[in-house]
Amino acid sequence: MKPVTIKVNGKSVRAREGEMLAAALLRAGIRVFRRSPQGQPRSLFCGMGTCFECLVKADGRWVRSCITPVKEGMEVEVEEG
Ligand code: FES
Repeated sequence: MKPVTIKVNGKSVRAREGEMLAAALLRAGIRVFRRSPQGQPRSLFCGMGTCFECLVKADGRWVRSCITPVKEGMEVEVEEG
């Protein structure tokens, strides 16, 4: 897979074109993808697109990161912490 760079909360992150976004985030050490309305951390759970726990904003749209392929220059927002 071709190496690419994406932005996560404005920081450059190395990834591989076509890999799933959740994999790239986890490899970059990002464990919390978003927060529930009650403030609880959410991340990868089912890994197959059914639970919606892995939602992140990518290029301005909410996507399931476990089934969204990485593209060069993708801009991702996560709610870390
Ligand atoms: S981890 Fe369940 S939809 Fe992505």
